[in-house]
Formats: sequence, C-alpha cells, structure tokens
Amino acid sequence: MNTQYIGKPTSRVDGRAKVTGQAKYAGEFQVPGLAYGVVVSSTIAKGKITTIDTSKALALEGVIQVFTHENVSGLAWFDKSYKDQDSPPGSPFRPLHNSEIKFSQQPIALVVAESFELARYAASLVHVEYEHSEKPIEAELRAHLDKAFDPGKGKQGYKKPKNRGNFAKEFAKAPIHFNSEYYHGAEHHNPMEMHASTVIYDEDDHLTIYDKTQGVFNSQSYVAGIFGLSKKRVRILSPFVGGAFGSGLRPQYQLFMAVLAALELKRSVRVTLTRQQMFSFGHRPATLQKMSLAATEDGTLQAMRHEAISETSRFENYTETIVDWSGAMYKCDNVAYDYQLVKLDAYTPLDMRAPGAATGVYAIECAMDELAHKLNMDPVALRLKNYTEEDANKGKPYSSKELKACFQQGADRFGWSQRNPEPRSMRDGSTLIGWGMATGMWDSMFVPCRAKAFLSADGKLTVSSGTSDIGTGTYTIMTQIAAETVGLPIEQVTFKLGDSSLPLAYLEGGSATAASVGNAVRIACENIREKLIRLLSKTSYAPLADVPAEELVFGSGKIQLKSDPQISISMSDLMKLAGENYLEDTATAIPNMIKQMPYARNVHSAVFVEVRVDEDFGTVRVSRMVSAIAGGRILNPKTARSQILGGMVWGLSKALEETSEVDANFGRFMNHNYAEYHIPVNADIPEEFEVIFVEEHDDIVNPMGTKGLGEIGVVGVAPAIANAVFHATGKRVHVLPITLDKLIVEHEDSAVPL
Ligand code: MOS
Repeated sequence: MNTQYIGKPTSRVDGRAKVTGQAKYAGEFQVPGLAYGVVVSSTIAKGKITTIDTSKALALEGVIQVFTHENVSGLAWFDKSYKDQDSPPGSPFRPLHNSEIKFSQQPIALVVAESFELARYAASLVHVEYEHSEKPIEAELRAHLDKAFDPGKGKQGYKKPKNRGNFAKEFAKAPIHFNSEYYHGAEHHNPMEMHASTVIYDEDDHLTIYDKTQGVFNSQSYVAGIFGLSKKRVRILSPFVGGAFGSGLRPQYQLFMAVLAALELKRSVRVTLTRQQMFSFGHRPATLQKMSLAATEDGTLQAMRHEAISETSRFENYTETIVDWSGAMYKCDNVAYDYQLVKLDAYTPLDMRAPGAATGVYAIECAMDELAHKLNMDPVALRLKNYTEEDANKGKPYSSKELKACFQQGADRFGWSQRNPEPRSMRDGSTLIGWGMATGMWDSMFVPCRAKAFLSADGKLTVSSGTSDIGTGTYTIMTQIAAETVGLPIEQVTFKLGDSSLPLAYLEGGSATAASVGNAVRIACENIREKLIRLLSKTSYAPLADVPAEELVFGSGKIQLKSDPQISISMSDLMKLAGENYLEDTATAIPNMIKQMPYARNVHSAVFVEVRVDEDFGTVRVSRMVSAIAGGRILNPKTARSQILGGMVWGLSKALEETSEVDANFGRFMNHNYAEYHIPVNADIPEEFEVIFVEEHDDIVNPMGTKGLGEIGVVGVAPAIANAVFHATGKRVHVLPITLDKLIVEHEDSAVPL
C-alpha cells in the first residue's frame, strides 16, 4: 500500500518536548499555594496501629495537617466505590480506612506541609505504635503451597481453559516424558517516573488532577465514587507518563491521598511517592510452575500439563493467564491445566508488561528446550514439528500467524544453522558460549474507543482521544494515522490525549491502544474527508464537485483529481469558500464481532540469543539477541522497534537480574531501591540487539491490520536466555534470575524446596 506516513519510520512528535524538559509529568505541575503531602508507610506487614502520635509533626511551623485513619471520615462505604476498571475480585484496599495493617509499607498517614522538605521531615516525626498480629506472617509463596486454592471456583475471575484428551494416560505411555519446575519471585514496576498526583483545587470542590495513570477515566470514576463528587467536578489530566508498564492501570494511593487532602484543606496538594514506596502497591506475582511434557522419539508432542501456583493478597484474588499459552502455542491432543493461588500478607499483585504470558511462556519454552535436548533435536525443528495454525483452547484458527517466517528470518539473521547442539561445545577460551531460542505470544485486542477530529479553516487538524501515551508512541502513531487519512502534512496535525474531557478511551493496556484508538482516529478522519467531499458539492466547485470520491486524492492539504493532479483545491480554500470555519467529527471504533469471533487473534515472535558465560565466575552476559516479530501491520517501524527493544531489555533483566526479595519473617520487600533491585544499565545490553518485523497481513484483527507491540517484546526473551545459558554451561537453572551463585554452586535440579 502506498502511504505517506503510515508504516514510515517517524520520529516521536513529542520527542523535542521530552528531551527539552517541556513535557510535564504529574508531579511537576505548579500552582500558587500548592501544599505538599508525604506518605507515612507502615513498618510492619500484619497487625494494627495502637497509637499514632502526630503531635510532633503538627507542632512544626508550616505543617498544615496530618491525615490518619483517626481523623478521616465521610468517605464512601461500599467496596464497589473503591473498585476500578482493573480491580480483581475481592475488596479493594482502602487507604486510611482503619487501624488494620495488611501489608508492609501500607500507607498509614499523609503529612501535608508548605514545602516538600518540611513534609518529609515531619513525616519522620510521626510516631506509630503497632500491635503485631498473633497469626504468623505468610509472605513467601513456596513456603505456603499447601494453602493453594482454585480461584476459578469463586464468583468471578479467571477460568482456566478446559483440559483435552487424556493427559495421564498418554503421558505414561509416551517414550519420552519428564516433569520440570520453574519459579520466579516477585518483580516490581520501576518506571523512571514515580507515581504522583497534583490536585488543583478550585472553588466549590472542582478538582483538576494531574495524575500518573494509564487511564484518565479510571482515575476519574475512582475519585468521584470515593469522595462523592459528580464527574463534572473531577477532571483528570495525564499528558505525559514516564513509563508505567501496568503500574498505572489501577488508581494508586497517592491519588486518594492528594484528593483527600485537597478537599479537606480546600487547597491544591501534590503527593509524590518515593522510590521505596513504588514497591508498595502491586507487583508481578511470584509464581511456581510445573510442566510435564511427553513426546514420541520424532518429537511429536503426546501430552502436556501446565500447572501454576501464584500469589495473591488476603483481600483480592489477582489472576493471570499463565497456563493457557502452552496449549495454544503447540499442537497437542492431551493437555491438562491447573492454576491456583496462595493468599499472602502482601499487597495484591498487579499487571506487569505481558502479565501471565511473560510468566507462562517462560515455563513452556524452557520445557520445550529441555525436551529438544532429550530428543537430541534442534529447538526450532521441535517447534516446527508441533506447529499449530489454531488455538486449540478456543478451537479457533489464528487470524494470522507468520511465526514460521519469524523462525526463518530470525535464525538466518542470527546464524542459527552454525549451532552445535551439544551443551558446553562452543567456547572462547574460558568463556562458554551458548545459543538459545524461544517463542513468544500475546493477544491482539481491539476494544471500543472514541476519537474526535477537528479541522479548522486554516488547515490545522486536531485529533483527540482520552487515551494515554506511556512512552509507547501513541502521540506519534495517532498523528501519522490522522495526517495520512485526511491527507495533510504531518506538521499540521496535533494529537491530544490524557484528559478525561476528551472522547472516551479504555485503559492503555494489553497492547490494545494502537488498534483501538487508531481505528477510532481513522474513522473520525475518514468522516472529515467525507465532509470535505460534501463541501465540494455544496460549493459546486467545478470540476471537482461532480467527481466520485474514488477519483479524488487527498494529500498535502489538497483535494486533487486523480487523473489530473493539476486540478485541485486546498482544503483550507474549500472551507473558506463554503463559509465553514471548521469541520468536526467524533467517531467510535467498534470491533466487528461477526468477523472476529471465529478466530484467535494473537501476535507471535521468535527470539534468538547468544550468551557468554565465564566458566570460573558464572557471570552471564548476553552478547547478541535477535527478535523476529509477526505483529501485523507496523504503523511506525521506529517507535515499534523501540517497543520491542524495551521488551528485550526487560526480558534480559527478568532472566539475569531482576527480582524482589521478600523477607519471610517480616513480610517486607527488602531490596526496595535501585541499589539492590537490579535492573540493566547500558553496559549490560549488547550492541547486537536486532529487531525484525516479518510481513504479516491481517484484516480480521481490525481494519488497519495492526496487532499492538507493547507486550510481545518481553515474552520469549527470558526463556531464550535461560535456554542459551543451558547450552553454554550444561546447567539448567529453574529459578529466575539466573545469578552467578546458581551456576557455580551445585544445586538441586528443582525449583522447590527453597
Ligand atoms: Mo500493560 S501490563 O497492559 O500496561
């Protein structure tokens, strides 16, 4: 397709604003009279507050108020009011509700002062006495597996897919069969920007709130519901988000705190969390997985079972799609699933980039590598042997699946055919070299969204939708789609987002935004084009007036005759001629269910990795990585590549560096800071980091054929690295991250016990 902007590598339209510091984030908006709130966090994980003495803090000049459960009242009573668009089943946490402590670092007070520094100092003076619970703290998943339960038995929530065939019988019969366990601990979202809310108070309880969020409408209804305000009085703005990865899907407690203080004090208030407090409101849950695979000697899968036991809080049942991927990725007639939760004394887990898939695909893709090794078969060949064109969980064919092209192009670029399959066979002096690969998969969602297009007679187009840009490039791709569709130079197009006064959009999550908001933008802009055509006939602008639409070309701000481009009129002139100051249209994009429902709709990937492991020290470095993605139509190869690169970096982090260590006795995340919570720096990232987008056409997922790339980049990376480490060393580490101790110390070939 011949396009001017869609599919072209386009630099971020907000790039300049970001690098020059003009892009403002939630905690940076300044208004006269702003007060500053600092949150006091519980130092225990389970029990209750017996006394909370705020007198020393209040005695300081400039401290305005200290809010605690003892002086807050008049809030919504029912659980329903505290639920949000991303709430799992259960009773949402209510800040400052009562004296009970349910998790470490629970927010227990807000100190508000005339300056941030004063508030922070005063917060240190709040004296709290606790009574520990008589019941022991339960905070380590693997220590409490005996308490696992099936969340699908509850009223609502996740239902695991149906088993098929007869797993037990076929597993026992197959010549090759084995069980394997995989574990990873919690991971916390660590965006650059800490969660913050700046609440600007106007007369009569009108609030303008700059919030760090992935959904302005979610924050709006949360605030309105809890504080009993009409939505008209609550405007949420979130023009820029400094990374979120799922942490902004639910309204977080800084929003509650800032609004509470603003309404009580009748003045503007900002609350920003500290880096340590970023570890207090949700995380990717620690998960133990058990895989059982059986195959014939030629590698044909005969049976598989995927079990996961994951953590949740005492008060909500957070669930993830973890086990489903195995039976969707491979052709296998005998499949069994199990999924259970253990309630721990911790905050409810929270969606984190590719929630469930990053976890489940890690297990199945490592198990497939173990199987390939047992069969003495090439890992790619094993995957091709069990390739499927349908999601057997759903009994539906994939709308498109160019995964074979991913294998082919990824392997070629990587040089996979040179691999010696024998572990420990490739080395460079005392450095062991390992090559590993894995597959990735994620959903291609399309949710109803609205967008508005406004073309003014000066030829400037403003398109808007209340979505967000969490760094993914939403501003840019929507600007491209709008410029392309109306036929304007991209410089004349502005896209607005992150404002609850704009047309309704769903949470920015699940990699659904490009397709969902993108199609709404496209339709609104197509309608503008229609309106321009109507103006042609209204003005009887000869000779274009009588020409059928398909014989017209819209481009460079002009309407031209296809057969003779000399015959044209600028959109601006046409509108002036017709006496129109502007044209506008608000459109809704709704999935065509009849077209979509017969198909499973997913994005697929193949990841190839080279690691270099120091034989003596067990240090692992990733030296090369190639990720081949079948992501449908790529709207912007530049921002798309950034998405995948970010996912690859995070996958590397998951495999080798990142985990939240919980103290089982105190129920506390111990490494809740950047010194001890390891994330990669530039020096950890290889120069040879390649992204390939294979060609894939799909007009079933949505009319634009785009699949969304936010999550897929991370999915297959950790297993590919784990598999490469096995190939390098001959050691299969079943617990992430693969730190050097696990390679140099003889370990049990198991993920349990501890
Ligand atoms: Mo994503 S975990 O849907 O922000």
